[in-house]
Amino acid sequence: MACESSSVRPTSLLLLCFLLGTASAQLSSTFYSTSCPSALSIIKSGVNSAVSREARMGASLLRLHFHDCFVNGCDASILLDDTANFTGEKNAGPNANSIRGYEVIDTIKSQLESKCPSVVSCADILAVVARDSVVALGGPSWTVSLGRRDSTTASPSAANSSIPPPTLSLSGLISAFSNKGFTAKEMVALLGSHTIGHARCTAFRAQLYDENNINAMLATSLKANCPSSGGDNNLSPLDVTSPTSFDNAFFKNLQTQKVFLHSDQQLFSGGSTDAHVNAYSSDSGTFKTDFANAMVKMGNLSPLIGSSGQIRKNCRKIN
Ligand code: HEM
Repeated sequence: MACESSSVRPTSLLLLCFLLGTASAQLSSTFYSTSCPSALSIIKSGVNSAVSREARMGASLLRLHFHDCFVNGCDASILLDDTANFTGEKNAGPNANSIRGYEVIDTIKSQLESKCPSVVSCADILAVVARDSVVALGGPSWTVSLGRRDSTTASPSAANSSIPPPTLSLSGLISAFSNKGFTAKEMVALLGSHTIGHARCTAFRAQLYDENNINAMLATSLKANCPSSGGDNNLSPLDVTSPTSFDNAFFKNLQTQKVFLHSDQQLFSGGSTDAHVNAYSSDSGTFKTDFANAMVKMGNLSPLIGSSGQIRKNCRKIN
């Protein structure tokens, strides 16, 4: 990119290049090898026991990392609790009554604190937990670079503006992801996450009752669980065929009108992303490789490094 060019560059670009360069120089997969050698195994067993108690938790933990990273970077800002004089992100529109898994992070963090106090950041825990959750549900693995630090603040307004709502059109989705540096193809791969987990009735009611574009049998069964009024929190699996298996069924469902979030349907609606859906539907290996690479990229969004931020002792509050 323009960072390498020696021609005249605006100060903002120089600053961006400096930040990007420093960030990638400091995150490292061996960051805790001497300071906390058991960190990765503690996290993995915490995830495995949470997912074996409730398979859906793997999906919830993956989404937690996404909702952290898209809001001013992967800095664990989403984990800060509201207090009398601080409003964090937990009750922002995309998160309230929807994001789950905070207690799983608390349990892992307290085990890490007793083994290696003040060493492992909450932001790194979220990144590793997301990877281990995908693996626990049969998905691909990837190497997580480590060394992110935790924010001392959070932004409910950025949470409301940076996390794409399910009402977006294809072009809205493409620009929301492009704003974070992702191609349309990477976006399609990331949305393959909807091959696991559940959605609340309130997230897809309008789609179910106002547009006639869901497979008829599926629409009938969705309506039984998601009435036109009431039952807002009733859950339906995002992947009707295999909701606890991280596979490429989501893309096959897209081709047969068996998905129900408006945003998901947009990925296969006669537009530029149809080809990616077809490719991932016919080749789960390509999907898994592209998904893993896109997760690495998402996990590297604007980390706090060096002396920025802090290592929170309790992920819910600043030290
Ligand atoms: C355009 C982008 C996206 C939109 C509009 C979107 C929207 C949604 C909605 C509406 C739900 C249901 C939430 C509820 O009813 O409480 C959901 C669930 C979920 N999302 Fe997304 N999502 C997007 C991208 C992503 C990405 C990039 C990931 C992961 C990398 C992801 C992972 C998940 C998972 C795993 C669930 C299920 C969570 C659970 O069962 O607790 N989503 N998403």
